[in-house]
Amino acid sequence: MKVNKYIKNAKAYSSPGWSNKIEEVIRLGMNEGDFIAPEVLDAIKNLCIETVARHYPPGEMPELLDIIKKTHNIGRNTDILLYPGSDNAIDNIIRTFSEPGDTIIMRYPEYGNTVLFAQTHGLNIDYVKPQPINNLTVESLVEAYEKHKPAIIYFSNPHNPTGQFIPVEELERLVSHTTESILIIDEAYIHFADLSFEGSLSLVDSYENVIITRTFSKLFGLAGLRIGFAAVNKNISSYLRILQRTKDITYLAQYAALQSLIHIEKYREAARAIMHSREYVAGSLRDMGIEVMYPSYGNFILFKPTIEPPTLYERLAERGFITRFYDTPEMKDYMRVSIWRQETMEKFISTLKEVL
Ligand SMILES: Cc1ncc(COP(=O)(O)O)c(C=O)c1O
Repeated sequence: MKVNKYIKNAKAYSSPGWSNKIEEVIRLGMNEGDFIAPEVLDAIKNLCIETVARHYPPGEMPELLDIIKKTHNIGRNTDILLYPGSDNAIDNIIRTFSEPGDTIIMRYPEYGNTVLFAQTHGLNIDYVKPQPINNLTVESLVEAYEKHKPAIIYFSNPHNPTGQFIPVEELERLVSHTTESILIIDEAYIHFADLSFEGSLSLVDSYENVIITRTFSKLFGLAGLRIGFAAVNKNISSYLRILQRTKDITYLAQYAALQSLIHIEKYREAARAIMHSREYVAGSLRDMGIEVMYPSYGNFILFKPTIEPPTLYERLAERGFITRFYDTPEMKDYMRVSIWRQETMEKFISTLKEVL
């Protein structure tokens, strides 16, 4: 039996804390959102589930594409492509714009699934390793670009797991240099950094090599429905359509995303609430003498607990809080916790005080 050599050498991504009793645990390990606007929930509940289940989905819903463009001020040279989650978008972008043996530049550490997509596509990963880890500079990426002339450069912005955020003005300096590579800017967490929700989308209109990915899994609380999109320059979007499996984007997911954007102001409020609670968590951790990686512009905070992270993970899990720790040498002292609204985080902090 033959197994693809790139797959044989890879390690599967795992989701911490899934169980049949999901309602009984608080999952602060995957940066899922904790809020769906009641109007959106009502709209979904009113769908005829039988019809939705029996039929293949509609491809890309024009109303959803329109509202994405309108609410994000999308320019005329930009196409929006829907995907069943931004993971799916990233995987397809990598496969479309590189071949096995090509190079991808990423920072270290970086979002695990993208690393996996690159590895299993047979790419050579060249890491830029900022010191401290939340201090990636545009200059270091330009230098890596000059050295490796990669097919792809990828980074999450805000960055998972450090929460570092590079504003669009700085990114433009990068983009104007790296014109021969596809630059994927993963803006899964942009809503917690930029309340206009526009992030770096304007770059796509002017630079044909920039692709931005977005998700409805975080702020919009739709992780389980699987929906996201990519903003791509019109000159290259036709290549991406080859692997875009629109049959996998359910009507339910598209309809929920549409309703979310109709009620976007509720989500701006929700983003504000998370920013507020993020301050509270950072302050509380610091008061406990814990080193915190801050500022964080995501809906999560990375910190160095005063005991071994796996031990703390177990103690918190016994009390119903799922968090995230890491097994690589560079990250083994860190733990990451997702930020939900204040009430949950107050419970988290008091549980943390109990177990430390
Ligand atoms: C940086 C980053 N990008 C993408 C994703 C995945 O998003 P989606 O649920 O849309 O696949 C995550 C999820 O944790 C993430 O941290």
